[in-house]
Amino acid sequence: MIVVTGATGNVGRPLTLALAEGGQQVTAVSRHAAQLPDGVRHMAADLTVPTGLEPALAGAKALFLLLSGDLHAATARPADIIGQAEAAGVRRVVLLSTQGVATRPFGATRIAVRAVEDALRESSLEWAILRPGGFASNALWWAESVRTQRLVAAPFGDVGVPIIDPVDIAEAAAACLLEDRHAGGTYELTGPQVITPRQQAEAISAALGSPVQFHDLTRDEAKAAMARSMPAELAEDTLTILGSPNPAELRISPDVQRILGRAPHPFAAWAARNTAAFR
Ligand SMILES: NC(=O)c1ccc[n+]([C@@H]2O[C@H](COP(=O)([O-])OP(=O)(O)OC[C@H]3O[C@@H](n4cnc5c(N)ncnc54)[C@H](OP(=O)(O)O)[C@@H]3O)[C@@H](O)[C@H]2O)c1
Repeated sequence: MIVVTGATGNVGRPLTLALAEGGQQVTAVSRHAAQLPDGVRHMAADLTVPTGLEPALAGAKALFLLLSGDLHAATARPADIIGQAEAAGVRRVVLLSTQGVATRPFGATRIAVRAVEDALRESSLEWAILRPGGFASNALWWAESVRTQRLVAAPFGDVGVPIIDPVDIAEAAAACLLEDRHAGGTYELTGPQVITPRQQAEAISAALGSPVQFHDLTRDEAKAAMARSMPAELAEDTLTILGSPNPAELRISPDVQRILGRAPHPFAAWAARNTAAFR
């Protein structure tokens, strides 16, 4: 049995589906129940509760570990999950980390994720670490304004990064969970090309078959909007990456091709698959 945390999110949902379709027994973990593929067991667990994952780990051979935005909750001790997986007899853990651990190693979030990476590397478990850059699904931020006004409002409209389709992350995770050759691998996952917010708006417009306007926000306007759903420090940090990506954040990684034997999906493919969110 394979435990998938974050199973109802952008990455976990297609991962759960891919594993279930491949005949794997899957336990899907999230706090809230959701519709899951046939045969998949759901277990409610909160990763900010120190022993929250232990019941789900009983009998598991592998774990996909996705640490949610609650990484900084006062009660969260995410590195402890590695020891819990060892104690439960789990053989292999695939950790969803972040590119920033390598490209901007300072900042509270990346230091916290790095600590989990280190705990995993020092454990007796087989492991693989996925370090994705920005997700294509971050464009869902614009879903409401596209639906209601056919408008994308974003900062740094002409500054791009090679964002990645969460389906590519999910398929890479499935390969790392199932194939021995990925043991000890640390993979950086990016999309196939640098794409700007303005170009993303154009791709959404093409997928909808309907014009979508682009409006440049100032950094302060963007920060005020983001601070409604994330800590101000994280909003500031995210804006710095989006506005001034460093060379490492602009690099197109070969790792999706190495893992999956195919190129990563372009943003247009993600937009075409997700038109329902923007209609
Ligand atoms: N977005 C980016 O550009 C980006 C870039 C690099 C790395 N990442 C990393 O990717 C991860 C987010 O992946 P995603 O987009 O697939 O997530 P997502 O769509 O936001 O979904 C989060 C998943 O985690 C579950 N969850 C949230 N809080 C939880 C908790 N306290 N305990 C247990 N489960 C919890 C959610 O279900 P419930 O709410 O029902 O619990 C849901 O299944 C984060 O670790 C982030 O650091 C993101």
